[in-house]
Amino acid sequence: MTLNFDSEDIGSNHSENRTFADVLEANISRRSVVVGGLAGAALTFFAGSLAKAGAKPDSIDSRGLVNARTRKPKINFTSIPLQASPMPTIAPEYRYNVILPWREKLDGSGTSFAYAGFTAEQQEQSIGIGHDGMWYFGDAKGGMLCINHEYGTNTHLTGKAVLTSLEEVRLSQAAHGVSVVEIEAKGRTWRMKKSTRNRRITVNTPVQFSGPAAKSMLIKNNAGTQPLGTLNNCANGYTPWGTYLTCEENFNGYFGSTVSTWKATPEQARYGFSASGFGYGWHVYDGRFNLSNPAYFNEENTYGWVVEIDPNKPKSKPIKRTALGRIKHEGAEVVVGKDNRVVVYMGDDERFDYIYKFVSSADWKKMVAAGKSPLDEGTLYVARFNDDGTGDWLELSTSNPALAGWSLEKILVYTRMAADLAGATKMDRPEWITVGPDGDVYCTLTNNTQRGTTGRATVNASNPTVANKWGHIVRWRDAKQHTGLTFSWDMFALAANVSDSAGQMFGSPDGIWADKDGRVFVQTDGEQPGGNNDQMLVADAGSKQFKRIFTGVKGCEVTGVAVTPARDVMFVNIQHPGDGDPKVSNFPEPFTGATGPVPRDCTIVITRKNGDVIGS
Ligand code: FEO
Ligand code: CA
Ligand code: CA
Ligand code: CA
Repeated sequence: MTLNFDSEDIGSNHSENRTFADVLEANISRRSVVVGGLAGAALTFFAGSLAKAGAKPDSIDSRGLVNARTRKPKINFTSIPLQASPMPTIAPEYRYNVILPWREKLDGSGTSFAYAGFTAEQQEQSIGIGHDGMWYFGDAKGGMLCINHEYGTNTHLTGKAVLTSLEEVRLSQAAHGVSVVEIEAKGRTWRMKKSTRNRRITVNTPVQFSGPAAKSMLIKNNAGTQPLGTLNNCANGYTPWGTYLTCEENFNGYFGSTVSTWKATPEQARYGFSASGFGYGWHVYDGRFNLSNPAYFNEENTYGWVVEIDPNKPKSKPIKRTALGRIKHEGAEVVVGKDNRVVVYMGDDERFDYIYKFVSSADWKKMVAAGKSPLDEGTLYVARFNDDGTGDWLELSTSNPALAGWSLEKILVYTRMAADLAGATKMDRPEWITVGPDGDVYCTLTNNTQRGTTGRATVNASNPTVANKWGHIVRWRDAKQHTGLTFSWDMFALAANVSDSAGQMFGSPDGIWADKDGRVFVQTDGEQPGGNNDQMLVADAGSKQFKRIFTGVKGCEVTGVAVTPARDVMFVNIQHPGDGDPKVSNFPEPFTGATGPVPRDCTIVITRKNGDVIGS
């Protein structure tokens, strides 16, 4: 998410827990004794003929761990340069086309509502804005695509920085949420189908709570209304039983107070609530988002959850799964672990916040057969990274002595504060998490621009810059097929201070997805070297070498990745092209400048010209 100010970057964690910078410094200084310095941990790049020199089989690393990262996937496309254009570029072996732009009608007609005079009612019947995480449930011919709509600024949505009526607030609310649409292949491209399964889920859609905190007084209001909506839907996940997971990230920014004397409680402060929010102004016209409205005194606790959606049951309510905790959820990566238990890896994207995992109590198939959700019964953990390359999963339950006096409901509603007490490691903004074919888990740590400036995070030899503006990707392997209490970690990529002769680099890694062949797709959200556009790269999990496959539009974020089962079609999102400003980009229309159309968030469909898998 990129707003005018960096909302994830505020940092509300004032606990004494160690930062990842402390751990990284200690880890790298230990390893440098063995491998001869930072080069062992640094990012390297393909550059022209260097491409073939890359992959070396991993053997035993400095921690004595055997690596199985030797697949050497084919990554033979031509790496393209960074650029700063109002239109995207793609590697010459590939092509793309645009589908599902903001305001396209859900009726499958292929037409869109006009920008001028656009209404809340029209937005409820059309594709939302701020396309982000997504997943595809289908085959080569067609299926269901679920797309998150993270956010859209007031100016992009309405042309006005400040909303001045409930109708305008309803338009903004309807632009957020999720689109669930049936799509079909049409020759080389794809299109939305006319389908009874097409639907929008917005901030005002009825939802239900499930799991241990579902009936908690901490999420009950006295307004007498049913719970509504999902908000700031960032990254995502999907389950082996065919459902979609959408994750609520910066929900705090949509709340505010109309009372000048309002003051945040410690719990509200830990989740970043403030009197003015991020400037959306919903609280002025909709009492549900007014932190001073006594009828909705717990409304803010009804957001910050992982929400499950059944794409094939258009009448089903989205379900908020409280067992997964309440944080600024970036994504929810589900993997089947030992004994068929499901494990969900989750990042909490704010400076100095944490990485979590949930492990279901039993075999997911048996739970589903018994009518139980595997996401309702299980144990939540938070990660501690140790200096020696090991890590521990700290249990967030009533059996942890550090949480004496806490009920499970309280742990799940105020998860951040429970994790503070448990002693988790403060990370540099955990974004997406993905699990590779060897069981390797990758997490993007997008940046931490206040490293060393606040007195809480140390500067060190491996990160000599006071502001860590380029970010990291950390990798770990969990004990007991993801269900254990320990893990071993290493640095997959340190983006800081890295460049190569072609000037290729990335900053602010965010979206990440590992395919079955050992390719790791990395997408960016934020500042890129030279002020260039956000991008998507493909790395070799074994050699850690990268190539750039796609560059986005000026002002946009490249985010979201989904594939068909054969992986010869990839869906990727362009979020806030031109930052919503037609002077910067008119994407997906060709650039004609200020008099051109307001740019539209959209999905692009990527195929390889020879039909091979994406990334090859
Ligand atoms: Fe929605 Fe952390 O990006
Ligand atoms: Ca981001
Ligand atoms: Ca985003
Ligand atoms: Ca993100």
